[in-house]
Amino acid sequence: DDPETLEPRPPIVTVMGHVDHGKTSLLDAIRQTNVTATEAGGITQHIGAYQVEHHGRKITFIDTPGHEAFTAMRARGAQVTDIAILVVAADDGVMPQTIEAINHAKAAGVPIIVAVNKIDKPNAQPDRVKQQLTEYGLIPEAWGGDTVFVEVSALKKIGIEELLEMILLVSDLKELKANPNKPARGTVIEAQLDKGRGPVATVLVQSGTLNVGDAVVVGLTYGRVRALVDDKGRRVKKATPSMPVEVLGLNDVPSAGDILVVVEDEKTARTLAEKRQN
Ligand code: GTP
Ligand code: NA
Ligand code: MG
Repeated sequence: DDPETLEPRPPIVTVMGHVDHGKTSLLDAIRQTNVTATEAGGITQHIGAYQVEHHGRKITFIDTPGHEAFTAMRARGAQVTDIAILVVAADDGVMPQTIEAINHAKAAGVPIIVAVNKIDKPNAQPDRVKQQLTEYGLIPEAWGGDTVFVEVSALKKIGIEELLEMILLVSDLKELKANPNKPARGTVIEAQLDKGRGPVATVLVQSGTLNVGDAVVVGLTYGRVRALVDDKGRRVKKATPSMPVEVLGLNDVPSAGDILVVVEDEKTARTLAEKRQN
């Protein structure tokens, strides 16, 4: 991209960690903390990703059911995460999937913020978690390292503001940018066949702007964007970089990790998709 056309974009954050350490609870706590009173009835998540605003700045969270999806996407060469939140339960400590998550994040070159969760529990041992993680090169700043640790309780909503603060801080160091003024490119994070709406793909736009009416190729599928639906279930006309959006109008269901590209017209899209199918 021409550097002059690059504009700041929100960070894309993935939450990873061992089973039951509180990934989903943490994502729920973040979302609820950021829901205004007027939205109270609308906090139900519509898609597997959402954006929150903290001090007027957006952060995109991808809600992966574990890190399988992350691994699958990485295997397909799709890099969709800027920052990994490693959730470690303070009572349980480092477990096998904690280590797997660290390895995935390191292999992808993604900075890790450690969220030591469940600190409300009487048997919580946050310092033990920190001690354990030093073995994997994750050393707290207070101990002379450069890893950000935040002690949180997803259940009691402790430390959520601080975590968001730290995400923005780490994100500032990366100077995340994208050009919104060109045809979109994005990655499918999930897709399914909806009874009423047909194939629906949740796409994270990574560069450019996706518009209703655009002709797209998505993996082996193609179509013209009939409608775009945001994370709150609202119809939108366009999706800008780092924005997750449901895309309607594809001829078939694509796979997680497939890349979406905008092409000249639907005929071109179809030709390209058919070429790929053979
Ligand atoms: P998987 O997706 O199955 O890997 O689990 P997860 O990491 O998403 O954990 P989840 O959010 O489902 O939480 C697991 C259990 O821990 C639930 O019973 C939560 O209520 C509980 N839990 C999560 N966060 C906290 C916390 O901060 N404090 C306490 N006391 N319990 C918590
Ligand atoms: Na669970
Ligand atoms: Mg979960």
